[in-house]
Amino acid sequence: MTRVLVSAELESFLVHATVPGDITVDLLDPADPIPEGGPHAGILPLLTRRIGAAEMDRLPELRVIANMAVGHDNIDLEAARARGIRVTNTPDVLTEATAELTWALILATARRVGEGERLVRARRWTGWSPTQLLGTGLGGRTLGLLGAGRIGREVGRRAGAFGMRVAYWGRSRRLEFEAECGARWVPDAAALASAADVLSIHLASTAGTRGMVDGALLDRLRPGAILVNTARGDIVDEAALVERLRAGRLRAGLDVYAREPAVPEGVLGLDNVVVLPHLGSATEEARQGMFDLAWENLVRVVTGGEPVTAVV
Ligand code: GLV
Repeated sequence: MTRVLVSAELESFLVHATVPGDITVDLLDPADPIPEGGPHAGILPLLTRRIGAAEMDRLPELRVIANMAVGHDNIDLEAARARGIRVTNTPDVLTEATAELTWALILATARRVGEGERLVRARRWTGWSPTQLLGTGLGGRTLGLLGAGRIGREVGRRAGAFGMRVAYWGRSRRLEFEAECGARWVPDAAALASAADVLSIHLASTAGTRGMVDGALLDRLRPGAILVNTARGDIVDEAALVERLRAGRLRAGLDVYAREPAVPEGVLGLDNVVVLPHLGSATEEARQGMFDLAWENLVRVVTGGEPVTAVV
């Protein structure tokens, strides 16, 4: 009998999953630590659980960490590698959902949707006015994609629908993407920020990207530009961003934060920011796809096979 741990928040997905007869699932409450000396060969965690060397060492039989997220910054990959533990993620199944949410934030920020909603809900709306809550049109403006992986490219593909030009920076040039939507590659993040009216972050959080969107980079954005982040909060120097938002120099649409569920000090009092609670992949379809893929990865490894989407 093989035992595996699955985050208890996934119980509603698990009841519909096919569990091979020789696998027993134990639910892991989000508030509980990984059980010391547990017999589990696999764990299916959420991105909110940090799994470092100490957590791995609690489970001497552990063979796979099947993260239910495309990001894997909650897992110490080196520690996993050193212990021969496989790590998997859930790419592709959430690409469309995250791209759509990115556009929701771009549009909501450009057109001041949050402010408008708050006005109506507070019963402070007194009627149509020619100068009320004027936003910025997107047509003819430049969308800068900081990172052109699966999600960044999917965001870029939708830019034409709003009449936007696309510029991007990423580690590798994407010639097919350039041909597909006329995207222009720029040689570094600084050049991208200088060119962008909307700068949208689509990088993984790694040692090389943490804090990359710092004060100097933000200062390259033109006044009134929009920063959108649906990737990871720690890629942005949040204090530097808040300072510029407070000064009214920039606007932002944020779905992720460095210390979730905390949002950066001062943000909630600002009207030029749209804040969401990490909803990038929050569609029925994407979340089901993420669970199914994570589950398949877990089952494959604990039954001696290769995972579908391996990170390590
Ligand atoms: C969500 O943030 C993910 O990484 O899947």
